Amino acid sequence: MGTEWLKDALFYEIYPQSFADSDGDGVGDLRGVIDHLDHVASLGVGAIWFNPCFASPFVDAGYDVADYLTVAPRYGTNDDLVELVEKARERGIRVVLDLVAGHTSIEHAWFQRELAADGPSPEGDRYVWRTDEPREAWASDLPGTPAWVRSPGPRPGWYLKNFYDEQPALNFGWVTLPGDEPWRDAVDDPGPRRNRAALQEVIAFWLERGVSGFRVDMAFSLVKDLDQEAALAASTGVWREIRAWLDAEHPDAVIVPEGFEPRTTEPLAFHADFALVIMAAHASLFDNQGAGVLPFQEHQPPYFDAEGAGSTRTFLETWREARREHPDRPVLLSSADHDFSRLACGSRTAEQLGAALTFLLTWGTVPCLYYGDEIGMRYLPDMPDVEGAVCNPTYNRAGCRTPMQWDDGPHAGFSTAETDRLYLPVDPDPGRPTVAGQDGQPGSVLTLVRELAALRRAVPALRVGPSTRVVAEGYPFAWVRGGTHLVVVNPRREPARLVVPETRGAVVLWGDGVTVSADAADAADAAEHAGAGGLEVAGFGYAVLAVDPAALPAGERLAGWLEGLGIAGQLDEAGLPSLSHDLEGRAVWTDPNTGEPLDADQLDQLERLLRQQGDEPEHAVPVALVLLARQARLHEELLATPTHTYASLAELRGVELNAARFQVHKAAAAHRLLLVAPQGRTLVPAFQLTGAGEPRAELLPVLEPLLAAGTDPWRVWAWLTQPAALLGGAVPERAVTDPEEAELVRRAALSLARRST
Ligand code: NOJ
Repeated sequence: MGTEWLKDALFYEIYPQSFADSDGDGVGDLRGVIDHLDHVASLGVGAIWFNPCFASPFVDAGYDVADYLTVAPRYGTNDDLVELVEKARERGIRVVLDLVAGHTSIEHAWFQRELAADGPSPEGDRYVWRTDEPREAWASDLPGTPAWVRSPGPRPGWYLKNFYDEQPALNFGWVTLPGDEPWRDAVDDPGPRRNRAALQEVIAFWLERGVSGFRVDMAFSLVKDLDQEAALAASTGVWREIRAWLDAEHPDAVIVPEGFEPRTTEPLAFHADFALVIMAAHASLFDNQGAGVLPFQEHQPPYFDAEGAGSTRTFLETWREARREHPDRPVLLSSADHDFSRLACGSRTAEQLGAALTFLLTWGTVPCLYYGDEIGMRYLPDMPDVEGAVCNPTYNRAGCRTPMQWDDGPHAGFSTAETDRLYLPVDPDPGRPTVAGQDGQPGSVLTLVRELAALRRAVPALRVGPSTRVVAEGYPFAWVRGGTHLVVVNPRREPARLVVPETRGAVVLWGDGVTVSADAADAADAAEHAGAGGLEVAGFGYAVLAVDPAALPAGERLAGWLEGLGIAGQLDEAGLPSLSHDLEGRAVWTDPNTGEPLDADQLDQLERLLRQQGDEPEHAVPVALVLLARQARLHEELLATPTHTYASLAELRGVELNAARFQVHKAAAAHRLLLVAPQGRTLVPAFQLTGAGEPRAELLPVLEPLLAAGTDPWRVWAWLTQPAALLGGAVPERAVTDPEEAELVRRAALSLARRST
């Protein structure tokens, strides 16, 4: 199915240290996660993102990797991770790992080898070393500046670090190469090349073990330079190379960066952007300084706050900017993460979380829940500095990394260890929230999250893809998703009121503290919005409502109808006017011939045309578009089954790439091989090949007539691999292996071929 799954997934971040300790050593582990997968599944999670779980001295909580290919013994074994991946997959959950691409631990064998050497490696250094006294820093805002660390020897000189001193930067080269700094490697020198190859090997290693992708730590500082723009462009170049390889070899796998990908060159390398908790967009919504002070942000009162002094402006600017050039690119938005605070932090209490969670799960972003936020676990102040938690004196990350609170057992069910062995203290509050305490309780944060996730699954308009159109900023904040659903939140204590065209006739589907008042509009509003119904939104209220199509302008109504049916994407293919959305999320209808926006008459004509199927226009469905959409889905399903590229076939057959290409086309020309070309890429469906990559002989008498008759290759693929009516439900490519059935299958194929000519 490619990487579309990313858009539909609800992410869940697990900080492995603190989730569940199965062996009583005070630190969480993979078995603990396996034991709690049902809880994760109960949230409707589609993908778990693990913070690094590889061998490490844990100077920076595992972001200092000593061996990328081995699970840290305290978490378990590689086999445990594979088991976890499989058991998660049984529950429809994918696993995404954290790839620390830019640096290792000083304990990594690569670093130890270079440290023990007396000079540069003949194969190219994996790290950046110099022997002359460094004059400049490369990363002045990172802990323990300057960025050059004196080598403890035997190797003389200094090495470049990325974050803590114990995190030496891997050498991905430099853009400018001044003559007086001969220690700088070019991007294509042997050292950087070795590191790029190693990145690919690490990624492949885990993908082959069932992992679905990576969140990439510090993705955009691989290549260094004082010229930041050039360095960013070169760093994204590394990822583009990796992406091209992923697309060919692991088309279902995703890479998501830490932060927004810099828009340097097209195509973009990553599958999504990530709105980080420490960035202005997120901080402007949630940071109430309960976890300390973010030194890189100018503080403003957060929007999600009882005082109601905040604004959504910074967030919306970032959101619109991200969509300007790439309106369909997913953006991940977390409730919180391991680097700063939590949703329940400082003065933000449980009763205020509904509005925040409603926003997070219904905005047009991919939501990422930080473990514990689903029960409203609070940020704990004054925690000890464990594993590099205090990377900046102004805040402490440990407060958001405390043990998950499961039940009323010892240490809230996290661990059976003695208190002094716990990774971090458990919230001592006797009234602390727990999963067991909230499970099944109406009105609990956990119930609310489960309901929201279920609503998101049930209502496609609330997922990523359909438009997000803001209809009110301030308190309340309201937006329309997919032209069909209105969401309203009022995070302040004071009640608020909303009267916009979309509230007229709207029906509350889910929420708390929101009522529709058909005639509640006061005189002024009534004059402005004749006949309008308004919404009364209590303090901390939130709701998802179904919009009455009659309340919408024609363009929005039409867009909502088609998006709701999931067929808006087929308009272009059908030669109809195309639908897009402007940065405000408003529907824009364009005439494909003139490139001009449709006027009211043309919109009216289009709607009539699309509603002409059947007798009742309001219940009509544009059948042609539905068929196209069905076809698109079928293609997607087929592409989710194994296929070969020229490259993978060349490897399988043990021949050169060009030889494979030639063989493929020769066989296709002779109607002996079925090829498809989605988006211009030639793919060979694997079902028709033997283990050695050759055409299956028994299939040829079936394949040849179909291909010779010019039958649509997708149709051939579908017919051969799915239960066929002409064969009483047998799957042709399987039935053909039975000599008694083979002739029957061949005749069925002939009759299908005749029908397609
Ligand atoms: C970002 C990670 O999220 C953070 O936890 C880590 O300390 C730094 N990168 C360094 O790897």
